[in-house]
Amino acid sequence: MKKRILSVVGARPNYMKVAPLHRALAAYGERVEHMLVHTGQHYDAELSDIFFEELRLPPPVHFLGVGSGTHAEQTARVMLAFEPVCMELHPDLVVVVGDVNSTLACALTAVKLGIPLAHVEAGLRSFDRTMPEEINRVVTDAVADYLFATEPSAVENLRREGVPQERIFLVGNTMIDSLQSVLPAARAHPIREQLGLLPRSYAVVTLHRPSNVDVAQQLGFLLEALRQLAQWRCVVFPMHPRTRTAVQRFGLEPLLAHENIRVLPPLGYVEFLALVVEADFVMTDSGGIQEECTYVGIPCLTLRTTTERPITCQVGTNLLVPPEPELLSAALELLRSGYRKQGIVPPLWDGHAAERIAQILVQQCL
Ligand code: UD1
Repeated sequence: MKKRILSVVGARPNYMKVAPLHRALAAYGERVEHMLVHTGQHYDAELSDIFFEELRLPPPVHFLGVGSGTHAEQTARVMLAFEPVCMELHPDLVVVVGDVNSTLACALTAVKLGIPLAHVEAGLRSFDRTMPEEINRVVTDAVADYLFATEPSAVENLRREGVPQERIFLVGNTMIDSLQSVLPAARAHPIREQLGLLPRSYAVVTLHRPSNVDVAQQLGFLLEALRQLAQWRCVVFPMHPRTRTAVQRFGLEPLLAHENIRVLPPLGYVEFLALVVEADFVMTDSGGIQEECTYVGIPCLTLRTTTERPITCQVGTNLLVPPEPELLSAALELLRSGYRKQGIVPPLWDGHAAERIAQILVQQCL
C-alpha cells in the first residue's frame, strides 16, 4: 500500500513552497501518493489560480472554500472543513508550509487526529507577537513532528524552544527551488517592455502587512514616501486586495496619482519576478520577497521593524527599515546617492531543498 501525504495550500505564498515538493515526491511515486488540499483562504484568481498554472501544480483533491474573515473565523472554518477531509482520506502525513492562517488551522486539525505533521519553513521567528504570522509559526512548530528549516537561525530558535534535535532538518528553501525553476521564464517575460520599463530604472513596491496598511495614518505616510521616491524613480506597485481596499476606505487614492507611480493588480508569479530581476531595488513588507531578492541579488528595503528571515540581512541584499518617516526618508536618500546593498546566496538555497525534504519524509517519517 502506498503511503499518502497530504499537503495544504491556502494563500499566495504557499504554492511556490509546495510545488517543488510535489515534483520531488513524484520520484517516490511507487511508495508515496501526494495530494493537495486548498483551503480557499485566497480565492481571487490572481492570488490563487494563476499560481497553479505557472507552477504546474495538480488540482487539489479538495477545495475547502473558506474565504476571508476575522482570524478566529478563518482559522475555525479551515479546521471545520479540513477535519472531515482528513477523516475521509486518512493521510499518513500532513505537510503544512509557511505561516498563514491555513497553516496553523490544518496543523492543529492534523495533530488532534493523531496524524503526523511536517512543517516546511519551520523555526522562523520575528519575535513580534503582534504579527498574526508569528503566532501561527510558534503554534505550528510546537505541535509539528518534523520541522524543516531554511536557515540556521530557525534551527537555533527551535532548539531554544525545546524541539528535540532529531526532529529538526536544515534543508534549505523550497521557495528558492521554485524561483530557480521559473527564472529563465521570468528573465524572458515581456512585461517590462509592455510597461515601457528599462532595466534598473524602476523600483518594485509591495505592501500588505496589517501593521502597514490597516491604519490610515501609517498607510498615508508610506504612500507619501512613494511620492518622494517617484521624484527620481519610477515606482511599480502591484497592489494586494487588502491594500487596495484600505486605500479606498481611507480615501488615499490622490496620493497615488503621480506619473511615476504605476499601480498594478496583483501579478502572477513569473510576471512579478520578471519585474524584480531587472529592478533597481525593491521595497516590501513581505516575508518571501526578502528571500527572493537575496537570491537574485537585487537590493531590498524591508519596511518592518523585525524580520523572521535574518539571513537575508546578514549575508543577503536585505536592509531592514522600520517604517517611520525619518528612517524611511534617510534610507531613500541613501539609495538616491547610489548605495546598493550587495549580498551572497545563503547556504543550501541551491534549488534542491524539496528533494532533501522528500528523501527525509520517505526514509524517516513514513
Ligand atoms: C495572508 C497571510 C499573510 C501572507 C499574505 C500573502 C495570514 C494571517 N496572512 O494575508 O501571511 O503574507 O496572505 O498574500 O494568513 N482578499 C481578497 N481576495 C482573496 C483573499 C483576500 O480580496 O483572494 C482580501 C479580503 O478583503 C480579505 C483580505 O484580503 O479580508 C485579507 O485576506 P487574508 O487571507 O485574511 O490575509 P492576507 O492579508 O492576504
